[in-house]
Amino acid sequence: MSKKMIAPSILAADFANLQRDIEMVNESDADWFHIDIMDGVFVPNISFGMPVLKAISKHAKKTIDVHLMIVDPDRYIQTFADLGSNVLTVHYEACTHLHRTLQAIKAAGMKAGVALNPHTNVSLLENVINDIDLVCIMSVNPGFGGQSFIENTYNKVKQLKALINEKGASTLIEIDGGVNDKNAKDLVDAGADVLVAGSFVFKSEDQKKTITNLSSVANS
Ligand code: DX5
Ligand code: ZN
Repeated sequence: MSKKMIAPSILAADFANLQRDIEMVNESDADWFHIDIMDGVFVPNISFGMPVLKAISKHAKKTIDVHLMIVDPDRYIQTFADLGSNVLTVHYEACTHLHRTLQAIKAAGMKAGVALNPHTNVSLLENVINDIDLVCIMSVNPGFGGQSFIENTYNKVKQLKALINEKGASTLIEIDGGVNDKNAKDLVDAGADVLVAGSFVFKSEDQKKTITNLSSVANS
C-alpha cells in the first residue's frame, strides 16, 4: 500500500514566525505543505494571498498543496503555477465549468484538485473523476481552522473510494478539517490518502513529534 501523507496546514502556523514554522515542516516527517487561500466571498474569512505564498514557496522544500477557497478561481490559475504550487485545488461549488478549469490547471503544469463542501455529494464527480488528481473532502465547513470534525465524512470517503475504483481512476483522497490522531486511522481505513492537519499540529507542544506520530498512526 502506498504511503499515507500528512499535510500540515500553514493557516494554523505563527505568521510572525512563518519561516521558522516552514523550516519545522521541512525537517519533519510531513509530506506536503497545505496552503489555504480565502477571499472573504466564497468563505466568510480572508487568510492571505499571493505575496505570502511567494514567501512560503521560497523556503518550502516539499510539495505545495494550494486549497483555493475563492470564487471564480480560473482568474488565478497561471498566477498560482508561477508562485510554485504543485497541487491546485478548486471548490466544486465555485466552478461553473469544472471540466475546463481542471484542464487549465493541468495545462499550467500542476496536479488538479477538487474540494467538496460537507453538503456536496461525491456522486456529482462521477463524470469528471478520471480528470481529477485529488479530491479534497472537507470535514468541516471551509473558512476557519480549529473546528470539529464532521462524522459523516467517513461515509463520503467510502463512497468516493468506491467511485474511484469503479471508474479505474488514480485520484487521491484528501481530508481537510478537524483531523487528529483519533480519527486518522479510521479515515485511512475508509480510503483517505492525504490528511491535512492544522491546529492539531501547530497548537501542540512538540510539533515535529506530533507530525511523526500522526504519520505513524496513518500508516499503521
Ligand atoms: C479550513 C481549511 C483547513 C484548515 C484545517 O477552511 O481548509 O485547511 O486549516 O485546520 P484544522 O486542522 O485546524 O481543522
Ligand atoms: Zn484547506
